[in-house]
Amino acid sequence: MKIWAVANQKGGVGKTTTAISLAGWLSAKNKRTLVVDLDPHGSMTSYFGLDPDSLEKSVYQVFQKAAAKQAMDINEVIQATRFDNLFLLPASTAIATLDKQLGTKEGMGLVLAKQLLGLKGQFDYIFVDCPPMLGVLMINALAACNQLLIPVQTEHLALKGLDRMLSTINMINRARKSPLNYAIIPTMFDRRTRAAIECLRIMQKKYDPKALKRTLIPVDTKFREASRDGVPLPIYSPQSRGSVAYNLLLDALLAEPIHE
Ligand SMILES: Nc1ncnc2c1ncn2[C@@H]1O[C@H](COP(=O)(O)OP(=O)(O)O)[C@@H](O)[C@H]1O
Ligand SMILES: [Mg+2]
Repeated sequence: MKIWAVANQKGGVGKTTTAISLAGWLSAKNKRTLVVDLDPHGSMTSYFGLDPDSLEKSVYQVFQKAAAKQAMDINEVIQATRFDNLFLLPASTAIATLDKQLGTKEGMGLVLAKQLLGLKGQFDYIFVDCPPMLGVLMINALAACNQLLIPVQTEHLALKGLDRMLSTINMINRARKSPLNYAIIPTMFDRRTRAAIECLRIMQKKYDPKALKRTLIPVDTKFREASRDGVPLPIYSPQSRGSVAYNLLLDALLAEPIHE
């Protein structure tokens, strides 16, 4: 079982799209795949047709029970989607309050890691979609994952978000036994604009070439269509440019040796 967290302390850079697209490909390739929504906005939860404002069972209960030291079977909260091999652990908007409630409680950083470990054998791949702010939820995702994926929109302002994310990783690494393995994924690349090409050049100069993925995710209007229909793009339109790019990215990620 491989666990990826998808995070960037900037919104609108393609985090949810990256998680859903990679998970969509894996499920289409008959891999049992789980997506976990840790964003209080619940974009991923909404994508699969659930309402994060009125969910009775969500990842919220997982943290509540852990805080109260009560046993919890995470399978009670996992839901099948209408797609084969693709499952969802939904978010409710209530998770926005978890930082205040549990932020200072001991042991709250490992709740997700412990729960996901119990899913070994049940899933081949797990994607954890993070909120754009550093807090107890992102800390949980970073502690639970084998590798962190950082989608970065190829525009200048987005590089600030990447720098912030990299300093977060440095901070986290001080408390870890082995450094967190991360991959930087350039997204929404529009090769017709000079700004995008320049931004990419800066990224290639400035960031670790081992971390920066060579697969560029292009701008593709089909992402919006697929999201309107609530279907992962690789299932909605496997031949689209966006789908093809995420498939190449998936191959590159799977080729990397990552300790579990
Ligand atoms: N490669 C892309 N091309 C075009 N639109 C995209 C692409 N990636 C994401 N989007 C769109 O951009 C918006 C923000 O993407 P999203 O994945 O929700 O970002 P985040 O999760 O980082 O906030 C969404 O409307 C999504 O459909
Ligand atoms: Mg999102």
